[in-house]
Parts: sequence; C-alpha cells; structure tokens
Amino acid sequence: MSKDHLIEKVLSAHQKNHGQGKTVVILAPGRVNLIGEHTDYNNGFVLPASINFFTCVAGSLNDKNQVSVTALDFDGDVDHFDLKKDIVPTDEQWKNYIRGAFYMLKSMGYSLKGCDLTISGTIPKGAGLSSSASLEVAVLNTLCDLNNIQLSQVEISQIGQQIECDFVGLSCGIMDQLSTACGEESCALLIDCLDHQISHVPIPPSLALMIINSNVKRELSTSGYNDRRKSCELVANKFGVNSLRDLSLDIFLMKKNELPSDASKRAEHVFRENERVLKMVDALKKNDIPLISKLMAESHLSMKDLYEITTPEIDYLVDIISNEIGDKGGVRMTGGGFGGCVIALIPKNLTDKVKKAVNQQYHVKTGLKEDIYICEPACGEKLIG
Ligand code: GLA
Repeated sequence: MSKDHLIEKVLSAHQKNHGQGKTVVILAPGRVNLIGEHTDYNNGFVLPASINFFTCVAGSLNDKNQVSVTALDFDGDVDHFDLKKDIVPTDEQWKNYIRGAFYMLKSMGYSLKGCDLTISGTIPKGAGLSSSASLEVAVLNTLCDLNNIQLSQVEISQIGQQIECDFVGLSCGIMDQLSTACGEESCALLIDCLDHQISHVPIPPSLALMIINSNVKRELSTSGYNDRRKSCELVANKFGVNSLRDLSLDIFLMKKNELPSDASKRAEHVFRENERVLKMVDALKKNDIPLISKLMAESHLSMKDLYEITTPEIDYLVDIISNEIGDKGGVRMTGGGFGGCVIALIPKNLTDKVKKAVNQQYHVKTGLKEDIYICEPACGEKLIG
C-alpha cells in the first residue's frame, strides 16, 4: 500500500468515528540497519536507514479526560483508558507502545488532554524493521502536537526508548527510535550512540536496498536480546568501565581469556562491529562495493559465531544471496536477530536475479516462504487534516 493510500485510509476511518474536527496526521518510517548490530546499547556506532514503510497516526482532541485508540491493523480493536487514573501495561503488547507514550509524558510532568487516535501501518510487524519504534515516535509526535509540547526529535527518540525499556520490557538501545525520528531521504544515518550525534551518509544511487523477510518466527527474542545486553555489561563491569565504548580492543584482547567465554565472544563482536561501521561509512562515500561486500559478510559471520543471534534459515538466505552477488554487493542479517530480515545492498540491475534465486531455493530447503521488499530511504511527515 502506498503512503498516500495509508494516509487516506487512516484519516477517513478517523473522521468516520470521530468527526471532521481538527485532526493531526503523523507518519513515521520503519528502519533497516545496514551495519552496526547490538552496538547501540554499548554506546557504539550504528548505520541504519529509515525506509518507505510507515506507521500513520491520526489524532484529535475530545472534551473528556479519556483516550481511545483504534488499531485498524488489529481488526479495529480499541483500547480505552482514563487519563486521571494510573496508566498501566496490558497483556496486549500493541496497546503498551501507546499507553507507554502517555505514561512517559505524564511522568515527565506534562498534562495531557483527552484524545482519540486511529492507527495503521505498512511496516511488517515483528520482522525487525522497527514497527514498534515507529509507532512510539508517531504517537509521541501526535501527542506533542495535540498538547503543544515542544520536544526535539532526539528527545522524542529518547522517550521512545524509555517506553520500550520501562513499559514494554525490552532493554533496547536508541538506534531504532533515532532512525525513525531523524531519517532523511536517500541517506543512511551514522549515529554515535554515546552522545546521539547523527550524520547523514548518502547511499550510492546505483545500489538498491533489498530486504528479505525470512518469516522465521522470532521466538525468545526478548530474553535472548536482554541476555546479550547483560553479557556486554558484565564485560564492561569487569574492566571497571561504564560501557564497552570506554575500552580499547587491544586491552580487551589481552585479558579476554579471563572472561566467561560467552561474554568474551559477545564483547569481541561489539568491538569489531564498531570498527566495521566506520569503515562502511568510508566505503559508501567511495562507492567501494567490494569493501561493502566484505564488511557486511564479516558482520553476518560475527552475528552468527560470536553474538549467536542468527538462525539456520537466515544463514541460508544469506548464503543464497551471497552466491548470486559475489563481491558486487553486500548481505547480512539486520536487526535484533533470532529471525527477522536480511538486508542486501546490491546494484539495482541484480535485484531480479537475486529475487529469482531466493524464490527457487529458500522454500525448498526451509519450508518457509520469504517476502521481498525493495525500499528507498525515507523520512517522517506531519500533515494537518
Ligand atoms: C533492536 C533494538 C535496537 C538494537 C538492535 C540490534 O532493533 O531495538 O536498539 O539494539 O536490536 O542492533
């Protein structure tokens, strides 16, 4: 569904249920990470791009102290809550991203007015393309607009991250929220997660962003994710530093045998992945495709062997694609892991060949059917209906 269709769908459903009064419409994109996996919560570097799949929120004030949220993608399911009462999480996860936004803004001291929200999106859910961060950012921007709250997009991202950590229960980093809030067309974002500085890195126009959804169900992804984070923190603690960013690879390597083997592997991934991100920025600037290919291959291998977050199906997808493209493009798993998507950065004239190969081989071996999306880097938008 195109962006315009999505906006039309959400706005017309909203106006049908809540009338034609002043309505704000916010679009926030999803994201795909090109390289720099599990480095964000270690205060390292990441290189994501926001993509032209969106969450769309339409919102208008009501005269009550009540909130109603209609999720068009969940059969029109509606969440209701009272702003005068405590806002608490529910068993239905989609509701918590929205409740969390109200909870966070309230706990920061903002007084929020009652409102009605209608939501839908085109980002595949649970595929590791940040449908949840995009939802958080879109809802927060809507609430800021409706309540005249002035916050920068970096502040919005930080609140979004807190929703995940404190309300939803995933101890995530800041990458997803910053990329959905601060993305730009045609660019990836180099984010230094230590100080949240962002620089935009143009993606060579000859390259396509091809995302292949493995459709592997992401089981244990929350506990697996939180465990990985704990291992990294354990290593930082052992060395008496705040985060792995404050430690050099050389000092780590001298003492790595004194660490539990799992934790040592996780930390080694983080050090080397940070280096790869910075090399990737140079490679993109110079359009050095063989180097892009090499860095993405190393990143994948490191997620497989050191961070241990890939699955056999994902590894197979990466093999199929890498056999097709050789050093003419790069491919790796993207996102938190334990399933989800593969990102291939390939010359536009190879996309059909890659699609065909995946189509012919992936299902036969795994019994799963992939979905393939060709994306463009895109940014968010605000429209007043
Ligand atoms: C998830 C988290 C991010 C990041 C990635 C892994 O998407 O939300 O903060 O840690 O996993 O790179």
